[in-house]
Amino acid sequence: MPTVTFLPGYRKATVHQGDSLLEAAIAAGLHMNVVCGGQGKCGKCIVFLKSGTASFDLEKYRRFFADEEIARGACLACQTFVVNDLRVEVPEQSLVQQQKILVEFPGTEIPPDPAVRKYVLRLSPPSLDDTTPDVNRLLEGIERQGGPRPNRIYVPLDVLQYLPRALRQGNWNMTATVALVPGGYRLLHVDEGDSSNRLYGAAVDLGTTTIVVYIWSLADGRIAATASNYNRQISCGEDILSRVTFARKGGLARLQQLAAESINDALCAAADAAGIDLEDIFEVMIAGNTVMTHLLLGIDPAYMIAEPYTPAVRRMLSTAAGRIGIATHRNAGVYTFPAVSNFIGGDIIADILASGMAEREEVSLLVDIGTNFEAVLGNSDWMLSCAGAAGPALEGGEVLFGMRANPGAIERVRINGDTLTPTFTTINGAGPQGICGSGLIDLLAELIRACVIDRNGNINMEIENPRVRRGRYCPEFVVAWKEETAVAKDIVITENDIKNLIMSKAAILGACMTLLDAAGLDHGEIATVYFSGAFGNYINKENAITIGLIPEVGLDQVKNIGNGAITGANIALINRQSRKLLDALAQRITYIELNAEPSFMDRYTSSCFLPHTDLTLFPKVQ
Ligand code: FES
Repeated sequence: MPTVTFLPGYRKATVHQGDSLLEAAIAAGLHMNVVCGGQGKCGKCIVFLKSGTASFDLEKYRRFFADEEIARGACLACQTFVVNDLRVEVPEQSLVQQQKILVEFPGTEIPPDPAVRKYVLRLSPPSLDDTTPDVNRLLEGIERQGGPRPNRIYVPLDVLQYLPRALRQGNWNMTATVALVPGGYRLLHVDEGDSSNRLYGAAVDLGTTTIVVYIWSLADGRIAATASNYNRQISCGEDILSRVTFARKGGLARLQQLAAESINDALCAAADAAGIDLEDIFEVMIAGNTVMTHLLLGIDPAYMIAEPYTPAVRRMLSTAAGRIGIATHRNAGVYTFPAVSNFIGGDIIADILASGMAEREEVSLLVDIGTNFEAVLGNSDWMLSCAGAAGPALEGGEVLFGMRANPGAIERVRINGDTLTPTFTTINGAGPQGICGSGLIDLLAELIRACVIDRNGNINMEIENPRVRRGRYCPEFVVAWKEETAVAKDIVITENDIKNLIMSKAAILGACMTLLDAAGLDHGEIATVYFSGAFGNYINKENAITIGLIPEVGLDQVKNIGNGAITGANIALINRQSRKLLDALAQRITYIELNAEPSFMDRYTSSCFLPHTDLTLFPKVQ
């Protein structure tokens, strides 16, 4: 079997003839940037063939390469197939880099009221006059300390197995950890002495791309540590669909393991930083989309992507950490948020919890944007939701120089209306490598203001300025000259990129309008628009309205809730009353299937302009 050696690290993988270089890279433990999931659409997995033979259709994918890259042997890892032994150079940009991950927690008014408690006990030892079994002695001690009645506490076998010795070694001075669980209470752990100050819980945002973890001290309701990292499942496909496909092909166990490992990496980093023993974490609250939740729990998500599109489960689930490989105390309860549909998952329920929109009478609109978007409209009485594919453009896919929010991504852009000279900032101040979502929205808005593009997104080729030029395939605007960049080529935005971006934003605006139609409301009746997620957190609100990404409302009515998934998970972790309401909240949200909604196509089509065909809907933009 051929061996593929990846440079510069000399990682090796032995693969079958006909396997793709992407499969070889995964086998070699490399995390490639597979924005389109290996479909040959994003051009982000560029590698260079140094020696050996592989098959690659250069003509078909030529648009992704500069001439000098072709001369160096450029090809797409996902579309290049191994023939014999190969040496392949992987440039840094083609690997997943440390992304800007949103970990800030805006704080909450929710009072701490955790579902796990510790009881410090001084028990009297047994005697010939008192032969009460050890476990009864312990449970009665818990009740005397204000805990639940003994018959309401379930004691797992593994606790019973070590209990007799532990009680005697501890000289009957013990701490019992008890959790409120569905249907009663559960004794999680018994240890010697007073360990009441070592009681922790973890909230987890299990994203398709990133993982964010908060460790809380449940003893005093403070944040002890935070950490974030990539979801290791990326190596099996960047988007949801490719993960489900991987699972269907026998990869479910692997994806489950990778999800648990990714959470454990972040837990370990956070616990190490705060000097916390992972064994002292007794509860884990996880917010993830419906597919991620299925994968973490090892539940087959295959039937969600085939007619009639049914998930295995939508309600809140709980299991013991040890059963799914989460590296906390093995008896710690792991809870996953409930879902509304295949596409409105636990992460969106967490967003709603974080925004507080379900507790208010005024109508709010919540929008969470990624490759897919989700939108929720409603108040304390009713809620409508929908979801759709925004396409990868707003995340940098299908845009020639689009990229994720990695170091070197252009994230803010202004354009001088007279000279058309852009000024921009990049993430971490690194040399520009491409443009991320917030930069792309700025660019669209600034290009309209500077009259470089019209409302259809066409570049005005009559402008006499070297930045406005005809590129290899279509007109383009030069954002950064080769000498200014870290990629040794001009960074441009092409007319095709602009059209892709317009289609992405039209899907989101069209969906918001469809929800308003379904509710019989006008956009003027929206009191607050909430953006959730990393994308929403970094975009310029005014520019988002200028291009018609969301309905026009006052800028002071647009709020970023940051990473709503982790905020919601934090709230549900520290306050058991909030957690109790989640299933009921999920059940009262109506899901609207956009494809089955006749008005959606009209709303989408009329949103395929900047900002909209009906400018009266955007009076301030005019
Ligand atoms: Fe290879 Fe998108 S082109 S992953």
